[in-house]
Amino acid sequence: MINEIKTLAEHLAPRLIEIRRHIHAHPELSGQEYQTAAYVAGVLSSCGLQVKESVGKTGVIGELFNNSDGKTLAIRTDMDALPITELTNLDFVSCNPGVMHACGHDVHTTLGLGTAMILSQLSDSLPGNIRFIFQPAEEIAQGARWMVDEGVMDGVDGIFGVHVFPSIPARTVGIRYGALTAAADELEIIIRGESGHGARPHQAIDAIWIAAQVITTLQQAISRTQNPLHPMVLSIGKIEGGRAFNVIADQVRMSGTVRSLHPDTHQNLPEWIENLVNSVCQTYNAKCEVNYRRGVPSVQNDLNLTKILESACQEAWGRESIKIIDEPSLGAEDFSVYLDKANGSMFRLGIGKSETKNYPLHHPKFEVDEAAIVTGVVTLAYAAYKYFTV
Ligand code: NI
Repeated sequence: MINEIKTLAEHLAPRLIEIRRHIHAHPELSGQEYQTAAYVAGVLSSCGLQVKESVGKTGVIGELFNNSDGKTLAIRTDMDALPITELTNLDFVSCNPGVMHACGHDVHTTLGLGTAMILSQLSDSLPGNIRFIFQPAEEIAQGARWMVDEGVMDGVDGIFGVHVFPSIPARTVGIRYGALTAAADELEIIIRGESGHGARPHQAIDAIWIAAQVITTLQQAISRTQNPLHPMVLSIGKIEGGRAFNVIADQVRMSGTVRSLHPDTHQNLPEWIENLVNSVCQTYNAKCEVNYRRGVPSVQNDLNLTKILESACQEAWGRESIKIIDEPSLGAEDFSVYLDKANGSMFRLGIGKSETKNYPLHHPKFEVDEAAIVTGVVTLAYAAYKYFTV
């Protein structure tokens, strides 16, 4: 089967590069992926998949039904671009001023389509069903939620995802067991004291001093009350309060980001933070408000599905094509939203060029070694096959 898949992928490569360049030249912002979605739907229909459009606003679903009693595997790719002005010299540079596929979602969309093209030709050998999820609005960490809320994970037993990575060379695949990305939440704290003369602090409740205590307490409490093997970072990025140099501030408002890797840590964070802030404020007679907004959870790669990805890649391209990723990232990825519904695994597809400088994701000169497309499509298609047959 692996040889059949590789032959099909190599035969399709010119067409896939054409698709990727078309999508690259026509990038659309999060939630506005109308042309991309229509294009995706067209390609999926031409492969004989059952297609549903406008799922989760601008998302698309392609279904490959083979066996109503079999398992269903989902393959998720994302379609949106970024508000960045492209500065590459590519022939297929963005035609949409100020919008660029600088995160490689043009490649992801192509991988989803390429995998659908291959598996639709091999469907007689697949003892299960595949649902291709083309998600909008990943960059604003909302598209996965839109899709899941419309039931795209109903009946799904497992899910694969992929993200390109410029620091890994093309023709290789980055595999990570366990935590891949962090949970990313937003925190706002408002501290209300009482104004007064700067010369007579004892007649006032100094919100600035209490805010300083709150920040220090939170940072120290991370080191003393959180499991050091379950990393977390709390960064206050904005703070404002006070009116004049000689007036005690009656209010401070601050906001920050909270990142964590372990699901247990993530679960307990709102209560843990609220208790600490409350106790400091109570001690000094201030009032406080803690607004905690959960963002996306951490991507936790499932052991078995990750093994399938690793062995698919190894059988296809040999051991040297696999890079085991040693450390998770404290960045966020909304693939985790699907993992609330089924086990899954996301891999990193190397796209680094060997001869030229590799700019990072979200850079206006970000480029991709298109050799990666065949590697990605073969890995996904063969992993899907193995999912049903191993
Ligand atoms: Ni991305």
